[in-house]
Amino acid sequence: MKTSTDKLHRAYHAKNSTETSEVYDDWASEYEQHMKNVGYTHPAMVASMVARHVVPTEERVLDAGAGTGVLGEILTALGYPNIVGLDASEGMLKVAQLKNNYLELTHQFLGKTLTFDDDAFALVASSGVFTQGHAPLDGLDELIRVTRPGGHIVFSVARTYLEGLFEEKRQQLEQANLWRYVDSSSRYNSAPLEDTLISQVFVFQII
Ligand SMILES: C[S@@+](CC[C@H](N)C(=O)[O-])C[C@H]1O[C@@H](n2cnc3c(N)ncnc32)[C@H](O)[C@@H]1O
Repeated sequence: MKTSTDKLHRAYHAKNSTETSEVYDDWASEYEQHMKNVGYTHPAMVASMVARHVVPTEERVLDAGAGTGVLGEILTALGYPNIVGLDASEGMLKVAQLKNNYLELTHQFLGKTLTFDDDAFALVASSGVFTQGHAPLDGLDELIRVTRPGGHIVFSVARTYLEGLFEEKRQQLEQANLWRYVDSSSRYNSAPLEDTLISQVFVFQII
């Protein structure tokens, strides 16, 4: 039987970022309907942790892996006015563009060098992107570079990383004095009406 998370599982098994973008380009027009069907929780969890720790200002915010702009809609409603989005899928960005919540949307890949200047953002938020077949944890290095000292990075981490490489990566960044741990959510299911996809949201502050 075809289910709403079929394409998500296809993306999990992508062998490289080109394959990931192809899955999402193909999925873009139905993505939000499918995710609503499964009770998708990442954007609400990330936005809640943002609102808890980062006061809205005029400073720029980066939505890393913005997709169709679900997180951007919530952050706009919460009062963060200057949001830039990046994503690996041009098809997803085209849908996000229609919502008019972003200053700029750009086709870029986490895990590669980003085009933004150092310290360009006060906040980076990322929902549903640090998981298998999507962004590699090394994508955090560039997100740290583009976040100003004192700024925050708030992002969901999927179980595959939580039970594997994330602890090592996070400690490496802490020991290098690049960020400090601020807070984390409890673990939650990001697709509770159809699947069991456990994740956790983390908040770090840039040093
Ligand atoms: C599950 S969707 C989440 C989209 C949006 N943040 C949300 O919560 O609805 C994952 C998104 O990450 C993007 N993505 C996957 N790998 C990426 C990478 N390496 N760099 C940038 N975006 C990536 C996909 O194109 C897709 O739009």
